[in-house]
Amino acid sequence: MLIKRPRGWELPESAATRETAFIDRRRVLAGLGLGGAILAAPALFDLRRMNGERAAQGGAQENPVGKAFYPAPRSAAYQLDRPLTDEKLTTTYNNFYEFGSHKQIAPAAQALPLKPWAVKIDGLVERPMTLDIDDLFKQLPLEERLYRHRCVEAWSMAVPWTGFPMRAFVALARPMSGAKFVRMESFQNPDVAPGQKQAWYPWPYVEGLTIEEATNELAFLATGIYGRPAPKQNGAPLRLVVPWKYGFKSAKSIVRFTFTDRRPMSFWERIQPAEYGFWANVNPNVPHARWSQATEMPLGTQKRIPTMLYNGYGPFVAHLYPESNDRRFFM
Ligand code: MTE
Repeated sequence: MLIKRPRGWELPESAATRETAFIDRRRVLAGLGLGGAILAAPALFDLRRMNGERAAQGGAQENPVGKAFYPAPRSAAYQLDRPLTDEKLTTTYNNFYEFGSHKQIAPAAQALPLKPWAVKIDGLVERPMTLDIDDLFKQLPLEERLYRHRCVEAWSMAVPWTGFPMRAFVALARPMSGAKFVRMESFQNPDVAPGQKQAWYPWPYVEGLTIEEATNELAFLATGIYGRPAPKQNGAPLRLVVPWKYGFKSAKSIVRFTFTDRRPMSFWERIQPAEYGFWANVNPNVPHARWSQATEMPLGTQKRIPTMLYNGYGPFVAHLYPESNDRRFFM
């Protein structure tokens, strides 16, 4: 049976609350027996501290995977309307629940072994296979793309990702005509990922896309950031990037791609379907059940700026959602 627990990124209300009041509320919740989960949640209160006072030390070890293939040529097709986020913030303010339900998981994430890293492709494909991550580098040319990233918690960043178009990966996988969805599964290894010892989460982390989404030109499988292999905390060695959707869709450290005719049940949807759906397209006019999505705070700034429909990527993806007045597409 699933136990419903509050999560760190569900708590932006703290951002609109004086710190003292926030702490008092924590005490009350602790008294109710809910404190463990809430205390682990820094939310936007921590983001302000991080932006203002320091960029935490990630303690990152180098990711050696595919190192010889960097830097990759930058694609001119994807332009940003804002400066890139400081690399130090991108690599020290992370959501990666396998390593903890707070933002400073970078040191803990260093325990994840990246070599060998097998990627399994199965389900409705012509030939199921398991590849070593290095085989992907040999078969798919890398490129760099500048994308905005909008977290459901209402913070955002702009990142130079290196990787390959998911469309090229799908072509390599050769799905059969009956495949309608791609289910992606992150690693599972409770020996190195303490969060995975928390049995109330339905591990492993699972996400999914329709085939049309996965083969949209924007869908990207990232292996690196800022011109080098991605640090572990950002989802090394292979992570989804779908910039028109809320960040929780971008599964990290993927080990398996299953092509299926059934819509996959995502990790957060399984925990709280009333608040986190399968589609999760960014829309400033559809609030989260407990907060507005109208604005966002770019990491490294103290400012809120308007959020854009599909995070500004409507020209690439709006045609995928012809019934765009259906709110289900935006949660
Ligand atoms: N993937 C896994 N496996 N585990 C996670 O907890 N968090 C998601 C997403 N992918 C998550 C994940 C969320 S909520 C966000 S906003 C982004 O990763 C954060 O990516 P970043 O840490 O690189 O900013």
